[in-house]
Amino acid sequence: MRKVHVPLGGRSYDILIEKGCLRRLGAECARLALGSRCAVITDRHVGPRYAKIALAALKAGGFDPVLVTIPAGETAKSLRVVEDCYDALAKHRLERKSFIVALGGGVVGDLAGFVAATYLRGVAFVQVPTTLLAQVDSSVGGKVGVNLKAGKNLVGAFHQPRVVLCDLDTLRTLPAREFRAGLAEVIKYGVIYDASLFARLEKDLPRLLRLDARVLAEVVARCCEIKAEVVGQDETETGLRAILNFGHTIGHAVENSIGYGKFLHGEAISIGQVAAVRLSVELSGFNAADAERVRALIERADLPVGLRLSAAQRAKLFAAMQLDKKVSAGVIKFVLAERLGKVAWGKRVPEAALSRALDSLGS
Ligand SMILES: NC(=O)c1ccc[n+]([C@@H]2O[C@H](COP(=O)([O-])OP(=O)(O)OC[C@H]3O[C@@H](n4cnc5c(N)ncnc54)[C@H](O)[C@@H]3O)[C@@H](O)[C@H]2O)c1
Ligand SMILES: [Zn+2]
Repeated sequence: MRKVHVPLGGRSYDILIEKGCLRRLGAECARLALGSRCAVITDRHVGPRYAKIALAALKAGGFDPVLVTIPAGETAKSLRVVEDCYDALAKHRLERKSFIVALGGGVVGDLAGFVAATYLRGVAFVQVPTTLLAQVDSSVGGKVGVNLKAGKNLVGAFHQPRVVLCDLDTLRTLPAREFRAGLAEVIKYGVIYDASLFARLEKDLPRLLRLDARVLAEVVARCCEIKAEVVGQDETETGLRAILNFGHTIGHAVENSIGYGKFLHGEAISIGQVAAVRLSVELSGFNAADAERVRALIERADLPVGLRLSAAQRAKLFAAMQLDKKVSAGVIKFVLAERLGKVAWGKRVPEAALSRALDSLGS
């Protein structure tokens, strides 16, 4: 088993990474000195596969769990579904010492975490991420929330989990496209923080795609370590945490302007990262050969590296970037790479350079 510590003073916690650790859910929760009543929130894809194991493990640990199943997919991340969850918790008489287990991908984690942050002004929360994206990214760091019609993640809180269990076996049932989308965030960690992780991904990508147990465990653990280090230094994103947004300014704009549904998040940020390394070559001294290595690795992971835009789509993309949360006073600020493993944030990018980077995606 691999253990990664997230250092946040009184809110510190561990991430456990191991095949089959879902079976230890009850034992791990028992160490947290929580009340016996709890809820497992999951979705309609994950529940039928893993809820039985989770509930049995909790019961064996002396707990009294109720199962709450929400619809699968991004549209479930809504206040309406949050309210359904509150009702289920009230019905099961959850109390201040009760806790909530999020069993699923980032949608379940963000929503269940938000429910936990707000129900009875906050109850404890345990993450069991079942997508690669959730294991390396969304389950770590305490950002929880839901979407509004006006946009994604507009309502939320910071609420750190008490423990995170990454059961690598759950990734075996994840659709291949979802797995590859998660790889886009894995590659991002190499680019922003760890050149040797990046080199390892170049070497071990085929093993990773085959879900080789050792490679997967080491890579997931390294990504969690990086996120833990970043979040440990800047829990509420006043500075360093912004580096995690590498590739995301353009990525989010691609999601918003080309439309959800066409691209998964990881696919959109793949395109965003290719554009961001090109901007970095022009503006922050990033090596052109390394920019090509980033593009080539993303392509080998079978993720999109280009985008042809009509004039209308292009205008929408620019408008979407202006609306991004990272824009203040109309200036778009970017995370740019200086070399592999090292980025700088808060970089102003002239519109002409951005235009050229977008053009290069179409060629
Ligand atoms: N809180 C954060 O810091 C943070 C960071 C990044 C992303 N996010 C959020 O995460 C969400 C995306 O998460 P995601 O990519 O995990 O999507 P997701 O939760 O929608 O999961 C993707 C799909 O895979 C299914 N699934 C999940 N685990 C499975 C398994 N083991 N086997 C079979 N099917 C499985 C789900 O039901 C869903 O259909 C977005 O809402 C995003 O905003 C949050
Ligand atoms: Zn992301």
